[in-house]
Amino acid sequence: MCGICASIGKGNQIEDVLKGLKRLEYRGYDSSGIALLKKAKIETIKSVGTINRLEEKVCGNDNSNVVIGHTRWATHGKVCKENSHPHLSFDGSVAIVHNGIIENFEELKKQLDGVEFHSQTDTEVFSNLIAKESGSSLEKLLSASKKVQGSFAIAVLFENEKKIYCAKRKSPLYVAIRQGQIMAASDISAFEDKFDFFYVLEDDEFAILSENKVEFFAADCTGIEKEQKMFEKTAFFEDFPDEKCFMRKEIAEQPIVLKRTSFKYFSEKVVSDETISKLKKFHNFHFVACGTAYHSALLGAEYLQRFAKKHCEVSVASEFRYGSQKINKKCLYVFVSQSGETADTIACASMVKEKGAKVLCVTNVPYCTLNNLADFILPTFAGKEIAVASTKAYVAQVFTMLILAGLMSEKDLSETLKRFVLSFQIKPFPEEILKEIFSYSKIFFVGRGQDYVTSLEGALKLKEIAYINCIGIAAGELKHGTLALVDDKTLVVVISTKKSMREKIENNIQEIKARGGKILLLSQFEHNVDVEYKIDLTAFDEEFMPIESIAFLQQLALAYALAEGYDPDKPRNLAKSVTVE
Ligand code: M6R
Repeated sequence: MCGICASIGKGNQIEDVLKGLKRLEYRGYDSSGIALLKKAKIETIKSVGTINRLEEKVCGNDNSNVVIGHTRWATHGKVCKENSHPHLSFDGSVAIVHNGIIENFEELKKQLDGVEFHSQTDTEVFSNLIAKESGSSLEKLLSASKKVQGSFAIAVLFENEKKIYCAKRKSPLYVAIRQGQIMAASDISAFEDKFDFFYVLEDDEFAILSENKVEFFAADCTGIEKEQKMFEKTAFFEDFPDEKCFMRKEIAEQPIVLKRTSFKYFSEKVVSDETISKLKKFHNFHFVACGTAYHSALLGAEYLQRFAKKHCEVSVASEFRYGSQKINKKCLYVFVSQSGETADTIACASMVKEKGAKVLCVTNVPYCTLNNLADFILPTFAGKEIAVASTKAYVAQVFTMLILAGLMSEKDLSETLKRFVLSFQIKPFPEEILKEIFSYSKIFFVGRGQDYVTSLEGALKLKEIAYINCIGIAAGELKHGTLALVDDKTLVVVISTKKSMREKIENNIQEIKARGGKILLLSQFEHNVDVEYKIDLTAFDEEFMPIESIAFLQQLALAYALAEGYDPDKPRNLAKSVTVE
């Protein structure tokens, strides 16, 4: 995973690189580091932990106008200073920061006979390969890149050279330019507040950043012209306020996100009638996504089936990618991804495209790798989501796919959708219930139909930020095995928002109670069974209830994490954007 950020210009660039890295921390925050060119020599500063720790290590004397930096999510080798980037070559002449995975690094290591390695990373091989090549710096970089298999976005420093060399394959890399400064980064969010223009580097292209210009090269070393893109400074551009808990902020923002989404689709018509007519022609839809986005895809499929009468399938990207299914050219493949940078999802989209099928991407980040592969784009308008646990991006995806289903349906749902966004609010999770349920560490989430999806998402939130080993399960599946785990120390969170399923859910509750399990029921209606705890949901139309109910489960997870003193925004072992498979 990891994020890279580099800057060259007039004056000290360290501050801008650190600022950029902070904005890329969503890609990993195990350790970080920078390399600077000082009196033509390369120096590195590294630290385990977040960029704040690295910042503490940078002292007043550290000053350079050529700086590359990295924030790491460990793939090869444990989290420690030695494994953190930048990695120097054996002779200290080359420093590299890298996002991606060098798949043949063991093999390449054997070829680098006599070189002493100081880390367990795949990246250190790359800096040494470059240093061992001959020719100009660009030629060295080109020949080393040819030997490398896998994915990379890199920024490289050579001693004695006031330049930053960049290259990429499969991992994203952007370059931005303004008077007196040029930056490169894994994501435009690293510098979008300062620049008006940027370039998107394509696979196997190279860039040389010097103090006053940037040059681009193709894989054969010939110079190329690249199209300049303008940043879309959106009206809802949210910078990084001094927020202590982004997850709390992002949960609270959900009503505004839905209002914005409704405005974008119904007033600004971000997706044209012509596109909708094209989409309507497809009868089969196959959704592919990972994690939370997979859960929203499950709901998207449900909505398209229910309202637009389409035939839908849903797959987890990492399974779809290696599965034996045939790609159907008449089917529309829908890839759902907040970041648009998730490696497995991207790989599936490329595969589908190569086989001649059409691709629809539901993404929250306009300039992302996934959108480059899209025939159709359905943007979501969550705004920046910083916390690793997805909250507002999830409801934005769910609501956007509900809008899509509405636009493709015979029945006009627009007025119902607009009315919902005007009345939807985040209600706080009842404190008195929280106090009582904190003692449970064995928790199941159950539901049927759309509530099953909410139970999966509720369980994922609690796992990822509160580290509680819980599961979400279809209520009807309980008695096929999992019920064996239920005892009087178990809390079962039951989501019941489908009237047609009320009796079935009541039976499930009885089965749990008979084994001593305690129930926390989330519902907008009464049930003929006593439960220990109940949260009364607002009674919206059934299709909106996943949005209403998940807000409580997000708050539940947040409360558990905070009670344990965990940082909900940066859970251990995870990163926001999973850019490796
Ligand atoms: O950026 P994406 O939506 O493609 O990310 C997919 C998952 O990695 C992501 O949803 C993950 O499961 C969330 N962090 C969970 O809260």
